[in-house]
Amino acid sequence: MSQTIAVQHESMSQFCQHNNALMLGGFSLQQISTMLDKDVFYAYDKAVIQQQVQRFRAAVPPRIKLHYAIKANPYWPVIQYLRPLVDGFDVASQKEMLLALQSGMAVRDISFAGPGKTDAELSAAICAGVTLNVESAGELNRLCQLGRQLQQTPQVALRVNPAFELKASGMKMAGGAKPFGIDEEQVLELLANIADMPVNLRGFHIFCGSQNLKPEALIEAHQLTFALAAKLVAACPYKPELINLGGGFGIPYFPGEKRLDLTAVSASLQQLLQQYNEAFNDIELVIELGRFLVAEAGIYACKVVDKKVSRGTTYLVCNGGLHHHLANSGNFGQVIRKNYPVAIGNKLSSDTTEQVTIVGPLCTPLDILADRVTLPQANVGDWVVVYQSGAYGPTASPQDFLGHPAVAEILL
Ligand SMILES: Cc1ncc(COP(=O)(O)O)c(C=O)c1O
Repeated sequence: MSQTIAVQHESMSQFCQHNNALMLGGFSLQQISTMLDKDVFYAYDKAVIQQQVQRFRAAVPPRIKLHYAIKANPYWPVIQYLRPLVDGFDVASQKEMLLALQSGMAVRDISFAGPGKTDAELSAAICAGVTLNVESAGELNRLCQLGRQLQQTPQVALRVNPAFELKASGMKMAGGAKPFGIDEEQVLELLANIADMPVNLRGFHIFCGSQNLKPEALIEAHQLTFALAAKLVAACPYKPELINLGGGFGIPYFPGEKRLDLTAVSASLQQLLQQYNEAFNDIELVIELGRFLVAEAGIYACKVVDKKVSRGTTYLVCNGGLHHHLANSGNFGQVIRKNYPVAIGNKLSSDTTEQVTIVGPLCTPLDILADRVTLPQANVGDWVVVYQSGAYGPTASPQDFLGHPAVAEILL
């Protein structure tokens, strides 16, 4: 009989195993569970986060700084761990801004992006002195008024909605009509008057997409972004300090996907830096990444509480599901649901396998952890593990739905 191989594809190779069981940061799932006194949890491995930072540093010229987008994983120990490893934080709310500030990250290296910032959020950011990535002409006007009232000059970067998009992205955030950023054409008009406005224009933010595994798409977006940035720098009445080139580096979630090969992206960035050396002289360049840094470092673990067969389908029913891990259920941006990599964490390999559908405890057909996967035979009490879960986990999930217990987290 063929043995189920523990590592189904490369997105499951980042952790160790011992006695056929998954280990994270040197601990088995049972040990982590005992430490937390919880049998549903997210666990994040520091070593994998560090490896991802190193992958970026090894490929991307040091001239380009690395910022972490806290939205991907705002767990406080993760933020604290990343603080000395990255050059800045991007935040998407006042709460994230306060976390970033309290982590000790320098104020000038914190940027605040996102549509619909309220006057209270803008005021908080003005007071703190963080850089506001301005999403509309209206937001810029409100900032001017609030800055006058607070007698403090807002630090701003204009977020540009470019005419192009990042092709083949999980999420397209630019090109065409978008709630994010100011259309490229309008930015050029705004720049004509910016010198008269009571703000300090630090630079530009050009973010066009996320979750991209295609080097050629990233290269094309970088070429277009550098060209657009050069146009904006030339149109700016004074030399800006900062250009945020966006992000978009993806991670492999689904069968057949491969880790992003950064070799060609790296060569292209080197070439672009040379080409635009003069235009961007003294300007700080930034790439901002969320999931690339943290997603591969995290697993979601829950326990099988029931096993049943319904008309030929074997179900493993678990104590965790969509309410903790919406993205894995396929309801956070997937068009057609695909399985994240999953394993039986305490039986990574076995001679006895079976096809199962793994579901959570919610009374909705949407609560699927894995659909028709072949895994080592599992029973009540075994651990179900979902890999690639270190980003957009608990905070991107409807934890209160149906009132089940909240999920625990730990960084090891
Ligand atoms: C402005 C901005 N920065 C960073 C990110 C993080 O994206 P990712 O986690 O895919 O790197 C996003 C995602 O929506 C974003 O909108």
